[in-house]
Amino acid sequence: MAATTTQSHFIPLRIGPIELPTPAVLAGLAGYSDLTYRLICRGLSAGYCTTEVALDTSINLSAKLRRKLIQTDPRDHPLAGQIMGAGAETMVTATRHLTAMGCDVVDLNFACPVRKALRRGRGGHMMRDPHLAIAVLRAVAAAVDVPLTLKLRRSFIHTDTACDAFWRIAEAAFDAGAVAICVHSRSVEERYCGQADWGFLSEVKRHFADNTIIGSGDLLTAEAGVQMLRQTGVDGVCFARGALGNPWIFGQFAQLLAGEIATGPTLAQQRAILEEHRQLCIELFGEICGVKKMYRFGIRYSKCHPSPKLVRQAFINAKCDETSHFDEIIATYYK
Ligand SMILES: Cc1cc2nc3c(=O)[nH]c(=O)nc-3n(C[C@H](O)[C@H](O)[C@H](O)COP(=O)(O)O)c2cc1C
Repeated sequence: MAATTTQSHFIPLRIGPIELPTPAVLAGLAGYSDLTYRLICRGLSAGYCTTEVALDTSINLSAKLRRKLIQTDPRDHPLAGQIMGAGAETMVTATRHLTAMGCDVVDLNFACPVRKALRRGRGGHMMRDPHLAIAVLRAVAAAVDVPLTLKLRRSFIHTDTACDAFWRIAEAAFDAGAVAICVHSRSVEERYCGQADWGFLSEVKRHFADNTIIGSGDLLTAEAGVQMLRQTGVDGVCFARGALGNPWIFGQFAQLLAGEIATGPTLAQQRAILEEHRQLCIELFGEICGVKKMYRFGIRYSKCHPSPKLVRQAFINAKCDETSHFDEIIATYYK
């Protein structure tokens, strides 16, 4: 991992009543930001984490499904529970469930670019239907007293430079009492391609100078996080793909902000985290499902290894055809 020093003085990140000394959060990451990974990240300096996005209708369906989708425990705070849906009523009900389950903040996802979600009027669809977005956020804000945040994209269509829907939704959100917005500075159409528009983040921060703005997009390293803070003036950064397989990014980011050299994880540190994470997966999902899940994470963790391709392939083999096993991979590549 890179090793640069940057003496910086950033103020703590405030998300409603929550104050974070290091202005970084773990993004919602479908398939990854589950309780096990959140606990791993928290142990490595992530002060605030977001659940994987859940459908409001699934949350509302049954207590059993809810407990499966939003697993949390006393070590898992402060926590933002993230939902997406197509209607105010179901979103309000889901929000109540999330707060009852212990989420400290409720985060409305108006950003998800998955086609199925868009077809059903959820997630990123809100960026092309600001009227619905505003109705949903107002209903949720009026119904619950837990801090509310939003995840937004800069627009729906890439060529929409005015970003009118964004400004309308963001304005309405803060008027309704939202405590922060997280802005992924790509259009919904772009999904994860192309370069995120950090210039837009500067504009957002200038416009909402007194509100908490968290920036997202192209934060693949801790250095990029510091650069985004500097360049755009946002209050905090949201690590997503950069945190996938590299939970050390939070510690590195804190080191850089303190003017220290950001150090990468040694093989021994990687091994210790892989073993701890496997244990958490087994505790939560049982031996068979837990280890299977761990292979998915292992594929991601391989990026920090000096021979990433070899280790990645070993985890893929273990996941797909069981030609290698967790203990063997650890013994072979992490000694
Ligand atoms: C595998 C994956 C899953 C994601 N799941 C979610 C999610 O559940 N909720 C959410 O708000 N964003 C989700 N995102 C978007 C990220 O939070 C983030 O906004 C986006 O990746 C841009 O940041 P980056 O370019 O630094 O990765 C996901 C992204 C990826 C790559």
